[in-house]
Amino acid sequence: MIRRRDFLRSTLAGAGGLLASRYLPLAEAFDSASIGARIEILPDEPLGMISPNIYGHFTENLSGVVYDGMWVGENSKIPNINGIRKELVDEMRKIKPSVVRFPGGCFADSYDWRDGIGPTDKRPRRTNFWEDEESPGAPVSHKYDPNQFGTNEFVRFCKLIGSEPYLAGNVRSLTAQDFYRWIEYCNSPAGTTTLADTRAAAGFPDPFNVRYWGVGNESWGCGGNFTPQEYAVEFRRWTTWVPRFHQELAFIASGPNVDDWNWTRGFLEEILKKGRGQLRSIYGMALHHYAWNLSRGATQDWVKGKGDALKFDVVDWYELLREGERMEGLIAGHWQIMSEFDHEHSIKLIVDEWGPWYRPGGEATSTNQLEQIPTLRDAVFSGMTLDIFNRHPEKVAMANCAQLINCLNSLYLAHQDKFCVTPVGHVFAMYADHQGGQSLRTIFSVPDVTYERDGKQARFWGLKGSASLHDKQLVLTAVNPDVTAAHETEIVVRGATVQAGSATTLTNSDIHAHNSFEQRNVVTPQSNAVESKSGTLTYTFPPASVTKLVLKLG
Ligand code: AHR
Repeated sequence: MIRRRDFLRSTLAGAGGLLASRYLPLAEAFDSASIGARIEILPDEPLGMISPNIYGHFTENLSGVVYDGMWVGENSKIPNINGIRKELVDEMRKIKPSVVRFPGGCFADSYDWRDGIGPTDKRPRRTNFWEDEESPGAPVSHKYDPNQFGTNEFVRFCKLIGSEPYLAGNVRSLTAQDFYRWIEYCNSPAGTTTLADTRAAAGFPDPFNVRYWGVGNESWGCGGNFTPQEYAVEFRRWTTWVPRFHQELAFIASGPNVDDWNWTRGFLEEILKKGRGQLRSIYGMALHHYAWNLSRGATQDWVKGKGDALKFDVVDWYELLREGERMEGLIAGHWQIMSEFDHEHSIKLIVDEWGPWYRPGGEATSTNQLEQIPTLRDAVFSGMTLDIFNRHPEKVAMANCAQLINCLNSLYLAHQDKFCVTPVGHVFAMYADHQGGQSLRTIFSVPDVTYERDGKQARFWGLKGSASLHDKQLVLTAVNPDVTAAHETEIVVRGATVQAGSATTLTNSDIHAHNSFEQRNVVTPQSNAVESKSGTLTYTFPPASVTKLVLKLG
């Protein structure tokens, strides 16, 4: 039974700074209830349409992501569609993958797109950006890029899975002219340019109509070590004239690393030195945030601060979620700065790299650099992150989980003829129903989790999530981070009745549970029907779980 003091604390914390007085009548009402938790969904407080692009992906030419993960080659015995791994295509078709980013990441600022077009047997081999960090036993294709998977193959992959391509340009080592030519190659109509002829000769007469273009990647670091002012000058130059071919182009500026407020401010200040009209050339600013520091405040060292993907204790579980939860403050903080310059908020946030990042050692295939096996902890982390994006639909226009396969927070693992869907992949399948829905303000009133962290009591919120409305259908997703306690929860939709529906839950009795090539179904979602009583639903969220409820409203 929730105590009044706990209820008020959790409600007010969940209100995110809104006026406390607004919640007091509800608190009074709830105090007399006899269950431990409550979710109230407010259909009359819509927050905006959830962009399908929030459910985007990221595929970098990095170690096992492209070669072995996505690309097996046309002559492979592994089932493939024009060289693309068929099982990956089949799985992705199930999750409505809105948009995919390629070719990087840091790789993008070393890549010449011309190397990856034309007859495959004529394509050059080049040193991969990540070559230095590959292990001695890594396949040659991971160190020296054979360029068998280039623009044509990537666009074909996107078409096969029903996704839009998002290409990242090379600002560090190519010119604006090269960028225009890449757009010309992709988008100029058949027969109009020499590059359109080259594309047609490769079997692609119709233009690719690529809309999303990144102007560099992490330009504050591997993308050129620019200051925000220097990068803004480059950005203006690159986007001053670009061939359009009647295709609307959305330019995504390299944005801040985590809480680098100075980058956001410095970039926009410099952009505006040439007038407010310059803002129109920016579709979005890319924000990157990896949850990597599990040292509990002991260090900021990028290597020493990381934890293990598979071996972790309960404190590490909450620590990862705590690091991931920073995302909400990062979105709010950068948005606030953007509003100082872009009063109409025409520029959106594009979180085109997010996920946990552990130290090496948790790979499914030992030679895959940056690969980690996702566990139930990463599924809970991913559900929590997608819920954060859903709660800010007016700010976040796109997000891309890093990375799709054989890498950081991967949805899939593959090696040769082996393949599995990870718990993160299952979360994406569950959350796909939110796409295009109207996000609704939702109040979670649930006692905090308390646990011991280095000899002191620590707290973490007890249940959070997001809700979206699709005509008369409500989709509610929620994450219970508590490793031991279930939450019996009353679910109320203000001004409507809940009729019937279904619940899909992803959990396991072991917080370390994960899928592998040998045991592919250790962590899989389970679905069952749910029924309401007098228009209200009572549902018990199991410990350490991600849940989706799809409810018919009356
Ligand atoms: O996702 C791995 C790397 O992380 C990307 O290449 C880079 O953009 C980021 O630092």
